[in-house]
Amino acid sequence: MKLLLCGELDAGEMQAWRQALAEAMPEATWLDLAAARAAPGEVVAAVVANPPPGSLQGLGGLRLIQSLWAGVDRLLADPTLPAGVPVARMVDPAMASAMAETALWATLSLQRGFFDYARQQRAGIWRQHAQRRADDVRVAVLGAGQMGAAVAARLRAQGYAVGAWAREARPTSPAGLPLHAGEAALQGLLPLSDIVINLLPLTAATRGLLDARFFSALPAGAAIVNLGRGAHLIEADLLAALGSGRLSHAVLDVFQVEPLPAGHPFWVHPGVTLLPHAAALTDPRSAAEVVAANLRALRDGLPLAHLVDRERGY
Ligand code: NAP
Ligand code: GLV
Repeated sequence: MKLLLCGELDAGEMQAWRQALAEAMPEATWLDLAAARAAPGEVVAAVVANPPPGSLQGLGGLRLIQSLWAGVDRLLADPTLPAGVPVARMVDPAMASAMAETALWATLSLQRGFFDYARQQRAGIWRQHAQRRADDVRVAVLGAGQMGAAVAARLRAQGYAVGAWAREARPTSPAGLPLHAGEAALQGLLPLSDIVINLLPLTAATRGLLDARFFSALPAGAAIVNLGRGAHLIEADLLAALGSGRLSHAVLDVFQVEPLPAGHPFWVHPGVTLLPHAAALTDPRSAAEVVAANLRALRDGLPLAHLVDRERGY
């Protein structure tokens, strides 16, 4: 079985993936892009981490494109992505667990004012603030999929009042959480949300959702945690909402342009805490097993897991 591994990986990451995949699937032959292009009909699957547009063009033997990323917005934006080839995304409980840790850190820090205390330390200020309880804090999680459901369950276990928002209603909601579905339900949820955590996929329907109108529906002083994609957020609207006090703080992991350019106002804004797109990284130790299971299913003619609906965009 000839397989392609390619994408936005530095030399160390490429080495780690090669080793993990070789251990998980010793029977496979792993090729780089140049070798795959030399035998375009023989490569049956491509394992990719946001490869440059055009990378998979002309690989006529492909029967599966397996993403190492959970979000496939950049992959699907490639107009040359071979049509008709199934695309699977990364679904790994270890990644959802890492995301739940990041969301818990952000929520706890907002609840207890730890970002404010860090700012006070830098300014040499000794001042205590009112201590809020977890059950005083209402958290809305946008997206109730692999990431959103894990985050919502972790926050609820910590005592927060959590509601989740998804596209479609379900007969049973994940982890028994209050699940809100559709645009009207979002408008009902936002005025009751002290913290909003975004874990939506980036699609035509969700691009730019976090804008001035969205912020104006929240209680004054609410906080935003964007762990989805930078293009969900209208950055100028966020800066205006922080400036006016409508929002008290933003925790941002993802940005319109990554890496965040030098001189961007977010770098030094007192109301912004930022991470370098590190909320939940794919861990080769567990993810290689997820990839191997799907590649073996392909080889054995079994159903493929974690397939993306290209029309829907996630
Ligand atoms: P997923 O399992 O596909 O879940 C997506 C959720 O979003 C589903 O609950 C879906 O609703 C909901 N949704 C989609 N479109 C919607 C809409 N228009 N309105 C309301 N809800 C909508 O995806 P996932 O694995 O949880 O990942 C979600 C996103 O997290 C990824 O696409 C990526 O952008 C981001 N992510 C970021 C990092 C990071 O390190 N920052 C890491 C991993 C993932 P239904 O349930 O009704 O379909
Ligand atoms: C990270 O952002 C991912 O989508 O895996």
